[in-house]
Amino acid sequence: MIARAAVGGAVLVTGAASGIGRAVVELLVRSDIPVAALDRSVDGLADLADHARRVDGATGRARLETFVVDVSDPAAVREAFVGAEASLGQLGGVVSAAGILETGGIDEVTEDSWHRHLAVNAGGVMHCLRGASQHLRSGGAVVVVGSNAARVPRTGMVAYAASKAAAAAAARSAGLELAARGIRCNIVEPGSTDTPMQRDLWTDPDVGASRAVLGDPEQFRIGIPLGRIAAPEDVAAVVGFLLSDAARHVTLQQMFVDGGASL
Ligand SMILES: NC(=O)c1ccc[n+]([C@@H]2O[C@H](COP(=O)([O-])OP(=O)(O)OC[C@H]3O[C@@H](n4cnc5c(N)ncnc54)[C@H](O)[C@@H]3O)[C@@H](O)[C@H]2O)c1
Repeated sequence: MIARAAVGGAVLVTGAASGIGRAVVELLVRSDIPVAALDRSVDGLADLADHARRVDGATGRARLETFVVDVSDPAAVREAFVGAEASLGQLGGVVSAAGILETGGIDEVTEDSWHRHLAVNAGGVMHCLRGASQHLRSGGAVVVVGSNAARVPRTGMVAYAASKAAAAAAARSAGLELAARGIRCNIVEPGSTDTPMQRDLWTDPDVGASRAVLGDPEQFRIGIPLGRIAAPEDVAAVVGFLLSDAARHVTLQQMFVDGGASL
């Protein structure tokens, strides 16, 4: 749980319908913090809204508004920020978690896939950073969910890694400007985390997690020193910390939440 007062207003979350984004929303709802949940998945958002109604925070004050948005569309993101503030009041935080992963090495990655990664994983972050600049006040916080692939090269992930490195660089540059206005901006870089995106990578679901933990020399993966794959809640907890005023002197950081996988 995060103290409601530790986040100065509602939080806008992208990629809210699944995996890490959804775990962040569930944490905020449990903490009675109003949430604007953005995703392109209509069904996923409906399911999330059902869940929020059932949980509805410790005191029943939590509020959730959903927005069907493709984060690569700047106008749609802009409208969602305006709609979120109109319905939930002042925003205190922004979490950009929407992302895509299509595997492909340098000889396989198509032009379309390259552009899609940049549009969603970097462009989507950029649109959230701009929204944050326009809607957050001093004391507000932005958390971008990137990937440890932004730092560690991975085989078969050329477009994904490049898009995540671009997102981190954009977040740190925007964060430098926003610091002067008292707005913090940090990046959480997860490693293998048990979500639909991760499971899509597993050819055999029975051994997918253990392969991630043990590593694979052929792919130059060292495995996960802590010996377990992350749950989405492990990443959400760090996002919650960075949103809260417990992290009030932390900005421009890339925090790797990967069990030590990037050494
Ligand atoms: N799961 C992992 O192992 C892992 C590791 C490192 C980083 N990440 C990053 O964490 C973030 C969340 O990933 P996840 O594992 O929860 O994946 P996920 O596939 O479970 O959830 C991603 C969500 O983003 C939404 N989304 C995708 N494209 C969108 C778009 N254009 N507009 C709006 N919404 C869109 C999807 O509908 C989905 O609900 C991503 O940025 C991902 O790159 C995940």
